[in-house]
Amino acid sequence: MQRTVFSPLGAARPVAPKASTDCPPKALPSPDVGCIVSVPKDTSTMIHCIGIGPGDPDYLTLKGHRLISEADVVAGFDAVVDIIRPFIKPSAEIITMGYKDQPAQLAKVADRHAKARSCVVVFMGDLHFSGFQLLERVEHACGHSVPAVPGISSAQLMAEATRTCFDETTFLTFHRRGDIEPFKAHLASLLKQGRNAIIIPRPWDFMPHHIAAWLLENSVNPDLVLEVAENLSRRDARWTGTLATCPDHFSDMCIMLIRGGPAFPSQIDFTK
Ligand SMILES: C[S@@+](CC[C@H](N)C(=O)[O-])C[C@H]1O[C@@H](n2cnc3c(N)ncnc32)[C@H](O)[C@@H]1O
Repeated sequence: MQRTVFSPLGAARPVAPKASTDCPPKALPSPDVGCIVSVPKDTSTMIHCIGIGPGDPDYLTLKGHRLISEADVVAGFDAVVDIIRPFIKPSAEIITMGYKDQPAQLAKVADRHAKARSCVVVFMGDLHFSGFQLLERVEHACGHSVPAVPGISSAQLMAEATRTCFDETTFLTFHRRGDIEPFKAHLASLLKQGRNAIIIPRPWDFMPHHIAAWLLENSVNPDLVLEVAENLSRRDARWTGTLATCPDHFSDMCIMLIRGGPAFPSQIDFTK
């Protein structure tokens, strides 16, 4: 069955079913399917999805901070709401949720939004990295596209911590519902091509040591450098080794970098 995604203009577009090749599912190009629902222009009655950054509130954007502090309703997973709780105005309604009660709690948010109360739904990091399933749920509850405010992702902090260029790197998350097999195949394939991968594991059945073991079973070079970081921006802890030596003690708040090969030469000429 196809899933539905709302484009920024509110037009629902279909997304391809799971791929059977080594590529992950991709959005189909046609935006012409489904209904168009306009998004209110008055920001005081709007709903926003906000990426709040990787944990330390210093990484929250000014725009995210403003929208959160002005909102009548603030919603999100308990641990995420806790991070921005100091910025919520005292009169605001707080709607927290877990994985099981997301639909019911998001229905409450949609109800408040329909009653013209300003709402924000907060996401960890950036919502376009491992947040899109929640974004889809928000849009499904509201029945239209919801504007998003990007946040600083744990992937960006990982790239900075490991001095890794985005353009030599693919970002992949296994922290998702559904079939991860196409994404596993994609990971093995891109590493064999010499690209780097920054990866969010899936607690607790596809953690760094499971990922490393799976890659070794699938003929990826065991000597590829692997770095795992925990709690970036708060209690940063880093482990560096190879795929073949990955330990099994990491927490669910971890992110991985696998170097597929040497970095491209920068081609900078300091004499000019
Ligand atoms: C549902 S994903 C959301 C990722 C988020 N959208 C982002 O851009 O960072 C949550 C997972 O991201 C990873 N993660 C998020 N923040 C992190 C941090 N500060 N340090 C390390 N890993 C982090 C952990 O693997 C965590 O279980």
